Amino acid sequence: MSNEKIPYKIYLEESELPKQWYNVRADMKKKPAPLLNPGTGKPVTAEELEHVFCKELVKQELDETNAYIDIPEEILSFYKMYRPSPLVRAYCLEKALGTPAKIYYKFEGNNTSGSHKLNSAIAQAYYAKQQGLKGVTTETGAGQWGTALSMACSYFGLDCQVYMVKVSYEQKPFRREVMRTYGASVTPSPSNTTEVGRKILAEFPDTNGSLGCAISEAVEAATSQEGYRYVLGSVLSQVLIHQTVIGLESKIAMDKYGIKPDMIIGCAGGGSNLGGLVSPFIGEMLRGEANYQVIAVEPASCPSLTRGKYAYDFCDTGKVCPLAKMYTLGSGFMPSPNHAGGLRYHGMSSILSELYDQGLIEARSVEQTSVFEAAEKFARVEGILPAPESSHAIRVAIDEALRCKETGEEKTILFGLTGTGYFDMYAYGAYNDGKMSDYIPTDEEIAKSLSSLPEIK
Ligand SMILES: Cc1ncc(COP(=O)(O)O)c(C=O)c1O
Repeated sequence: MSNEKIPYKIYLEESELPKQWYNVRADMKKKPAPLLNPGTGKPVTAEELEHVFCKELVKQELDETNAYIDIPEEILSFYKMYRPSPLVRAYCLEKALGTPAKIYYKFEGNNTSGSHKLNSAIAQAYYAKQQGLKGVTTETGAGQWGTALSMACSYFGLDCQVYMVKVSYEQKPFRREVMRTYGASVTPSPSNTTEVGRKILAEFPDTNGSLGCAISEAVEAATSQEGYRYVLGSVLSQVLIHQTVIGLESKIAMDKYGIKPDMIIGCAGGGSNLGGLVSPFIGEMLRGEANYQVIAVEPASCPSLTRGKYAYDFCDTGKVCPLAKMYTLGSGFMPSPNHAGGLRYHGMSSILSELYDQGLIEARSVEQTSVFEAAEKFARVEGILPAPESSHAIRVAIDEALRCKETGEEKTILFGLTGTGYFDMYAYGAYNDGKMSDYIPTDEEIAKSLSSLPEIK
């Protein structure tokens, strides 16, 4: 089909919503390394994980063989409130850039949480309810995950306790209030409500917090209360599985119009949106059916793929979670309080780390002023005010489209627009006032943080 016929927005029918998630590990010959018990150094068992996570989610976490997992009917009903999400042809951006490239983005910001996080929040809340739990605990960085989880918990009548990275808690009071409106309790992290929080505060009294700290606190809160489990908004393989609804819908929409992307771009914090977007495409690569250029974009201030080490590390600062083999900057890495929000995590999903190590994914790091420059350009022509995290992907999509302008190549670019930035106006304000600065950690800082990686025998 000629590209001229492609509408601005490709909407799928409700009946076209995927009925199964895709588990890319089933198609990987070399699987991601297993999670290890930090005490024994042996692969964690389902029983060990079930103290922390919901039973069904542990099953998904450890499942390396089933390529497809049925999406329960109750989750599908919730998905129908805001999905399928549109695949948008960025005609206006293409025109503004004067590029021959064809740019598409999958827009995940059309729900109250303002991001893709709801795709996994509703799944995790559903399985917690199924198990008869009273509630769940979690961390949130920029606040999108906490917002999404509070929405999902209120839908199923579960208690929701959120540990919010202190810098975001202070910078984003309105996000906090959205969570409270949906019935969640929100605590700035590190806090003195947990043992691990008190320990971190004693060592780093002026810390702005990090996702790693907040995870430790939320895990402790879950394991010390009867009827609670911990849920995580990124990094874990189960989260990546739920997010494949993004990639599956994208593929259905593209296939409908005979579009094949040359390049797929996504921002990468813990890796869930990128993993979800690219999994079905990478599945084709793994099965030898197609080839794509896949690019992970991370902040230069927290460059786990581009400057980290592929090693076993703790997923949290308090070292209470299992060890994961991943690209990491070290669990003690404290990123500067920049505006990359949800991308300020020291590690990366073990699935994406392994795919990156196998050369199936590339990575780029970008500085925040250039990210906001791209965000502004995009907002002015496409209308949507993008989240700072998503704008990392926009930056590289624009860079690639401009490269096409130079070479005359008519490449098809697909990128993930993970969310909206209405709660990030503090960051936009800093950019508008010319007060935004860039921060790149030195080699010494990264080496120091990596020097405390755990030794695995
Ligand atoms: C809008 C948005 N995009 C992307 C991310 C990054 O998370 P992940 O790498 O898990 O997709 C976040 C995390 O908070 C987010 O809020």
